[in-house]
Amino acid sequence: MGRLEGKIAWISGATSGIGEATARLFAREGAKVALVGRRVALSRRIATGLKAEGGEALPIRCDVSSERQVRDSIRQTVKRFGKLDILVNNAGMVHVKALHKYTEREWDHVMAVNVKSMFFAVKHAMPHLRRAGRSYIVNVGSISSFVGQALTPVYTTTKHAIVGLTKSIALDYAADGIRCNCVCPGITDTPMLREHLNVLPDPEAALAARLRRVPMGVPLTPHDVAKSILFLSCDDSSGITGTTLTIDAGYLTAAEWETKGGTKFMSGAKAAGGS
Ligand SMILES: NC(=O)c1ccc[n+]([C@@H]2O[C@H](COP(=O)([O-])OP(=O)(O)OC[C@H]3O[C@@H](n4cnc5c(N)ncnc54)[C@H](O)[C@@H]3O)[C@@H](O)[C@H]2O)c1
Repeated sequence: MGRLEGKIAWISGATSGIGEATARLFAREGAKVALVGRRVALSRRIATGLKAEGGEALPIRCDVSSERQVRDSIRQTVKRFGKLDILVNNAGMVHVKALHKYTEREWDHVMAVNVKSMFFAVKHAMPHLRRAGRSYIVNVGSISSFVGQALTPVYTTTKHAIVGLTKSIALDYAADGIRCNCVCPGITDTPMLREHLNVLPDPEAALAARLRRVPMGVPLTPHDVAKSILFLSCDDSSGITGTTLTIDAGYLTAAEWETKGGTKFMSGAKAAGGS
């Protein structure tokens, strides 16, 4: 028996990175998953792969900044699978530039994709989550939920907001049997990270420079983060609500740190290798 046997999960941003790894892990643990994202060709391909492994997934095209599309994606999930137990608010985006260079429209867009989307999803999932009796919301924050990072003012604002929103949801719906928690990943090797690095002259050197301030000296895999999302989406984490779980290879533990070359985690991280 998998840990999510008989459970139905809605996962946003499920077409790549952490969302995709979470969908794969959830399916392996017995859940049926709604793959919610804008790139439906990718989610169809993931659904086909999961089916070949005995899983079941529903690809749903959805821009999470649209309340109508989020509402419809939840309706489609419940129509297909009959209920909803787990909501994973993972979709996110980052813009890299100084605050004074943002237009109002750009500010609003990042806020909508990263935070308002969570309001839409919780609002429309609530009747179903209440009905499930024991249900779970996991929001994806970041180390930027706790510290600032250069040239990402709006992203940092959204990720801090997610911590407050998580606590608020946890408090207001605990009596309904709903637990709500937030995972805060550090440097994770996903398309978002690569996109971020690829605008720099030497992406690999830039990554190596960043990892020098990470005690474990390695980037996380999407699967590392997915395992923490799974923990907060099942009974293994019973009694935990309104909290943040940081998965950052030690990033936030030190004010100053310089990794001395490779650490013993290097080979381990490669062996653990993704989802
Ligand atoms: N990679 C990291 O280092 C890192 C660190 C901390 C937090 N995170 C967070 O993890 C989450 C997943 O990111 P990732 O690193 O897997 O990158 P990713 O780019 O692989 O995943 C982001 C997903 O969100 C989707 N998305 C973006 N805008 C959307 C929209 N308007 N509607 C629907 N889907 C949309 C993308 O299509 C993509 O599938 C994000 O919330 C991100 O902020 C990532």
